[in-house]
Amino acid sequence: MKPVEIKKDIFWVGAVDWNSRDFHGYSLSPRGTTYNAFLVKDEKITLFDTVKADFHDELLCSIAQACEGTPRLDYIVVNHLEPDHAGCLDRIVERFHPEKIFCSPMGEKALRSYYHHSQDWPVVVVPTGTSISIGKRTVQFIETRMLHWPDNMISYIPEDKIAFSSDAFGQNWASNERFVDEVDSHALDTALGDYYANIVLPYSPVVLKTLDALAGMNLDIDMLCPDHGLIWRGKEAVAHALDSYRQYALQKPTKKAVIVYDTMWHSTEKMARAICDGLSDEGISVRIMSVKHNHHSAIMREVFDASAVLVGSPTHNNGILPLVADVLTYMKGLRPQNKLGAAFGSFGWSGECVKIITEHLTGMGMEMVEPSVKVKNLPSHETYQACYELGKKVGAAINAKLSA
Ligand code: FEO
Repeated sequence: MKPVEIKKDIFWVGAVDWNSRDFHGYSLSPRGTTYNAFLVKDEKITLFDTVKADFHDELLCSIAQACEGTPRLDYIVVNHLEPDHAGCLDRIVERFHPEKIFCSPMGEKALRSYYHHSQDWPVVVVPTGTSISIGKRTVQFIETRMLHWPDNMISYIPEDKIAFSSDAFGQNWASNERFVDEVDSHALDTALGDYYANIVLPYSPVVLKTLDALAGMNLDIDMLCPDHGLIWRGKEAVAHALDSYRQYALQKPTKKAVIVYDTMWHSTEKMARAICDGLSDEGISVRIMSVKHNHHSAIMREVFDASAVLVGSPTHNNGILPLVADVLTYMKGLRPQNKLGAAFGSFGWSGECVKIITEHLTGMGMEMVEPSVKVKNLPSHETYQACYELGKKVGAAINAKLSA
C-alpha cells in the first residue's frame, strides 16, 4: 500500500485486510477491515499505533515511503495494545529503536504482559491530561478506559485539529477509499452500527461519559481517525460520528422486535412465524432470525436497535439447542439495555426450554412478557393462537413504551 497524506505531513500508513471475515475472533466482518496507523513528520517523527502482525511488511514499506526512503521513528504512541494494533510493535521497536514509546497507565500493564522482554524499552506513561511536544506540534492524551479495553486512549494534536481515537468510531470497512465522504453514507452508518453493536455496546455508559468529557474539553476536531475503517473528515462528519455514538449508547426503544430461534422438526419455527403475525398486527417491524442461518454477530446487530427479543428453542437433552445457547451467551456479554423479552419453544417429554430461555433473558435484565408459549410436539390451532397473542402482547408493550 502507498501511504496517504491526510493532512500536511500526516500520513495514513496502515493496512487494508480485504479478507478479514472473523473480526477480533468472534464477529463477522463481511466487508473486511483495516488496521490504521498514522505517521506524523515533525522534529520527532511519530508513529501512532502499528498494524496486525501479518501486515508488518506493508507498514514498513509505508513508513519508508512517507519518510521518502530514509525511514526513521523517534516516537511511537501506542493508543491500544490489542494485537491488531500492536501485533508487530516488538519488530518495529527492534528495527527503529525509538527514543520514547508512549502509552496509557493501563497500556503499560498490557504492554508488559504482551511483550515479556520489554523491560528495556523506553516506555513513558501518559495519563489523561499529559501532553508532549514533537516539534511544531503537541500531542495531548485522553484515556478512554474500557472503550473497549482498559488501555485505550485518544491522542489529539490541537495544531492540526486531528484526533487518533483507536477503536472508538471505527468500522469494518476494507476499501481503497480512506475517508467517509468517499463512500455511501447509508452503508457507512450500517457498518458503524454493526461495529458498535458487537464491540462497544457493553461499554455504553463509558461512551456517554467519554462524550461528555470530550465536550467539556472543547477539543476542536476536524479529523477523527479510528484504528479501523474510514477517517471522519470535516466537522460535520466528526459531529455525525460523535452523535451516532451518543444515540447508540442511549439505546432508546424503537418500533422493532427480533425473533431468534432454532428448530429441530419445525415446530418452534412455525411458532416464530405466528408470533411475528401478532407483532406485525401491532405495527412492529420484525426480524425473524434462525440461528442456523445467521451468525451471532449478525443477530446482535439487529437486537442492538430493537425493543424486544423473543427467543425460541425446542427442549434438547433437558436443555436448549446449542446454537441458541451460543447466541444468548454472546448477547449477555454485550449487555443490551431497555429490552423486553419473551420465550417460546416445543418439547417432546421434559420441556425445560422456556424456563431456561427465561432465565437467560431475565439474567440480562430484560422485562419478560408473559405468558410464554410451550407446546408438546406439534403446534395446534390453539398454540398458534397463543403465539399470535404473545406477539400482540409484546407489540402492545413496545407501543406503550414508545408513547410513555
Ligand atoms: Fe481493534 Fe481493540 O482492537
